[in-house]
Amino acid sequence: MPGNDALAVDARELIKTYSGGVTALDGMSVQVAAGTVFGLLGPNGAGKSTTVKILTTLARPDSGAASVAGHDVAKKPGKVRRAIGVVSQKSGADPVATGRENLILQGRLYGLRGPELQRRADELLERFDLTDAGKRPVKGYSGGMQRRLDVALGLVHRPEVLFLDEPTTGLDPEARQAMWDEIARLAGDEGLTILLTTHYLEEADKLAERIAIVDRGRVVVEGTPDALKGELRGDAVHVELRDPVGEVDARLLTTALTEFAGVRDAAIDGRRLSARADDGAAAVPQVLAVLEREGAKVAAVTVARPSLDDVYLRYAGRRFPDVDAGGAR
Ligand SMILES: Nc1ncnc2c1ncn2[C@@H]1O[C@H](COP(=O)(O)OP(=O)(O)OP(=O)(O)O)[C@@H](O)[C@H]1O
Ligand SMILES: [Mg+2]
Repeated sequence: MPGNDALAVDARELIKTYSGGVTALDGMSVQVAAGTVFGLLGPNGAGKSTTVKILTTLARPDSGAASVAGHDVAKKPGKVRRAIGVVSQKSGADPVATGRENLILQGRLYGLRGPELQRRADELLERFDLTDAGKRPVKGYSGGMQRRLDVALGLVHRPEVLFLDEPTTGLDPEARQAMWDEIARLAGDEGLTILLTTHYLEEADKLAERIAIVDRGRVVVEGTPDALKGELRGDAVHVELRDPVGEVDARLLTTALTEFAGVRDAAIDGRRLSARADDGAAAVPQVLAVLEREGAKVAAVTVARPSLDDVYLRYAGRRFPDVDAGGAR
């Protein structure tokens, strides 16, 4: 772990309860080294946006502390705001104004003026492949164009730390890939620190040097994607059952599998059974034999290297509930 002064984001034990009694954050801690891309990965309602809102001074925690770019978010919100760019989950662009007008307005909010601002707007339009679209009202943009403009808006004042809340949700695969390339470029060429949230395992795996898996308002595990996957020794064995298994039967089945099929970390979620084995292929016949004996009918079996999905299962105790790993929500 880097020393504290090398941390662009340092949040400790954040707690946030919304009126109505929802505990959105329940001891959320996250540290991001300057100049790196960090991914907060978690399902709907995990607390990702709430974390981003607190770090970007748009919400206050009930307790806990956070600093961004070296400034305490509670004591120096103005300094934090000048140091950061924010791309919210929901677009903040004015739909009636053109892309270029949006950029100019955003620049003015940060005190940019005159030819310098005009140049910056054109530079960003070009960089995000919006030079022509920039002349048209935002309401006519495709989802990908709109999202690219959102990121451009977050960059107008050349922030040190960029927050991207679900930058690719709802984009088609091509637009998503283009966004990934751009985010990788921002991090690589410009040394920007990026904290992004996502519920796409693949996105976190590809873009982030380190990730934190967030579940129910706290980090359940943190590390590089490879290290997290590497902690899961051996292969993952996945079995799709023909019929869903209730909680009691699931417990009996997993116990039987661990005892008689030589697998570990066996878990069943509805129709999906997962387990780990040093040699996955060798374990399959034994797994099938145990399932047959216990009367569980099998639809399909696969053996794979560990994925982030398996990491999530291991630490959250259930499958990562992203409806589709690749497409739009
Ligand atoms: N303004 C609010 N008032 C009340 N409850 C809220 C508010 N904002 C969020 N919540 C609740 O807090 C919890 C965490 O929400 P949050 O938006 O931080 O999750 P998220 O990880 O960003 O989810 P998503 O992937 O759906 O964007 C959820 O249960 C949500 O319903
Ligand atoms: Mg969110």
